[in-house]
Amino acid sequence: MPATRRQFLGLTAAAGLALVTSCSGREPSAAGPSSAGALRLTAAPMRLDLAGHPVPTWGYGTVPGPELRLRAGDVLRVQLENELPEDTTVHWHGLAPPNAMDGVPRITQDPVAPGAGFSYEFETPIPGSFMYHAHVGMQLDRGLYGPLIVEPRTEELAYDREYTLMLDDWRDGMDDHAGHDAGSGSDDAGSGDPDPADAVSFGGRSYPLLLVNGRPPDDPPVLEARPGDRLRLRVMNIAADTGFRFAIAGHRLTVTHSDGMPVEPVTVDALRLGMGERYDVLVDAAQPGGVWQVGVRPEGRDGWGRAVLRYTGSDASSAPAVAERPAELDGQLVRYEDLLAREPLDLPSGSPDRVYDLTLTGTQIGGQSYPDADPLPVAEGEWVRFTMRNTSAKWHPMHLHGHHFQVLTPSGRGPVKDTVAVPARGGEVTFDFLATNPGRWLFHCHNHHHMEDGMLRLVEYGRG
Ligand code: C2O
Ligand code: CU
Repeated sequence: MPATRRQFLGLTAAAGLALVTSCSGREPSAAGPSSAGALRLTAAPMRLDLAGHPVPTWGYGTVPGPELRLRAGDVLRVQLENELPEDTTVHWHGLAPPNAMDGVPRITQDPVAPGAGFSYEFETPIPGSFMYHAHVGMQLDRGLYGPLIVEPRTEELAYDREYTLMLDDWRDGMDDHAGHDAGSGSDDAGSGDPDPADAVSFGGRSYPLLLVNGRPPDDPPVLEARPGDRLRLRVMNIAADTGFRFAIAGHRLTVTHSDGMPVEPVTVDALRLGMGERYDVLVDAAQPGGVWQVGVRPEGRDGWGRAVLRYTGSDASSAPAVAERPAELDGQLVRYEDLLAREPLDLPSGSPDRVYDLTLTGTQIGGQSYPDADPLPVAEGEWVRFTMRNTSAKWHPMHLHGHHFQVLTPSGRGPVKDTVAVPARGGEVTFDFLATNPGRWLFHCHNHHHMEDGMLRLVEYGRG
């Protein structure tokens, strides 16, 4: 692609961001330069406008919070200010910072008390699509999250515009869902019948709304394209309890990255995203015009979320009905075994130095439930393998802090990720990682209810 188009990208990216998040009336003030030259991120009570119905929530000024954008090798400097009535921290999901910057209360830092602050500062050498979110209790279930993009020094992909789409399940501030308890007891509590045996379900709590970039289906974000444009979408699941199916009517998706890490491009109709997972896709705006549904369907439960893809100049009368389901949702789905890492981990030959076989239930990893759980020891420099076998009826998106792992697939070159969905009822996933980032790292289910119910272990090692 000619340099001029690349240079143009900077502008269109900014314009795209404004377009996607432009929603008048929200306070943009939470992010701004602080005196130290850091970006200030203020966690505070706020109101979120849901298609004309404001609800109280907690956020970083907007929902999602401001998009943080750096270039590979930059130093991330964020000054967190806590204006919440309780402790908080920020975790940088998918990044591998030094342990002290990982944002896990009592494990990597003291919780940040109300009225206090904390400054996060670390280098971000690895490009990709990441997220930041609060990591205290169920705070992530409110609006305390945002996107974090690390651009490569030299972009290899050619595209005209890009958009970030954060998918969320929402109940905060809604009449029938005042509480934020992790909820004890069974997953299916309050949701009626148990799942049928073939259902794909990542959670069981009830969430009345699904949001895309903080917007309900009645007030969807608009992705703008000119005919012939190639769009890059960064699709991210930040929900607490919901896995999503994602597709665009009349368009296919070419997957270029999973969890921010490059894969050989694969073209599919639909994505499945467990909580914590991200995909980057390229979309050719090859239709002559029109307004097309960007559909977000929860796996294994009712509900609906959406955005729309609008060709510049198209007539609003061509807009899809709110509930229109793209047929592509049931088309060809991306699978881990179809993805080939473009930059596989540098694993030595032979076999792993250490292997853990871990059974997943809704409350335990490897027979233990946090905090009554032993750390999983590893030693610096080791090649570590985790095999997870899920005996429960829910899928579990398992996330490892501080490392990227490689999913073991028949190709031998499975995708490099940081969150992987383990299918229900006997489903198994194996991944490998290199223990090259000493510290105390969380390994947990990214269903935040499951995490609060004990699906969390520590991976711990020191230097040497
Ligand atoms: Cu998104 Cu413990 O993380
Ligand atoms: Cu889980």
